[in-house]
Amino acid sequence: MTERGRFITLEGGEGVGKSTNLALVTDWLEGRGLEVVQTREPGGTPRAEAIRDLLLDPGSGEPLDSDAELLLVFAARAQHLARVIRPALARGVWVVCDRFTDATFAYQGGGRGIASSRIAELEAFVQQGLEPDLTLLLDMPVSGAQHRLEGRLDRQGGERDRFERERSSFFEAVRLAYLARAAAAPERMVVVDASAALCEVQARLLSELERRVSAWR
Ligand code: TMP
Repeated sequence: MTERGRFITLEGGEGVGKSTNLALVTDWLEGRGLEVVQTREPGGTPRAEAIRDLLLDPGSGEPLDSDAELLLVFAARAQHLARVIRPALARGVWVVCDRFTDATFAYQGGGRGIASSRIAELEAFVQQGLEPDLTLLLDMPVSGAQHRLEGRLDRQGGERDRFERERSSFFEAVRLAYLARAAAAPERMVVVDASAALCEVQARLLSELERRVSAWR
């Protein structure tokens, strides 16, 4: 029987440098001869990406109810799990995902104030016990991350999405919720100081991967 692939997620608030580091993780695993699917949430399939558009679109007046937002996040996740994540893992392919359910506990839980117990019910329903094998949480103070986000928006142009328009108090709550998740699951979640120089962040990520991957194989 093929050994199940491993499921690795990358998490963190806006502006912490997820995209650059996601590519690093994928490249490193592929360099080890592993087959990897790199994907993201919300999204990862055409229909789940359509739900992503709904979630990120600032819209023209009609606010999105927090419970509707939560259900949309999990609807996209159900589709992504069914079409991409579970089939890949079953084939022995590794999955590297830009955000997963820790983001829901951070954004919809910490940011929007939805009770964790309610999120946990949906998590159990949709995931049926599946959770990441390793989660790398990029963490840095909100002010620095906001500064980086502004720099990126200036360089690349484009408008802030519905989440990026939130106030810094929202992102402070998101950060605290992420750190609380990490403290409660220290084996699965590794907190990496993303305010350090990029080469230091990358060295830390790779040493953690090295340690985990050798333990798994
Ligand atoms: P991204 O810009 O990092 O790709 O993520 C899109 C946004 O979606 C980001 O602001 C965080 C938000 N989000 C949630 O609110 N809940 C979730 O469960 C996930 C996966 C993302």
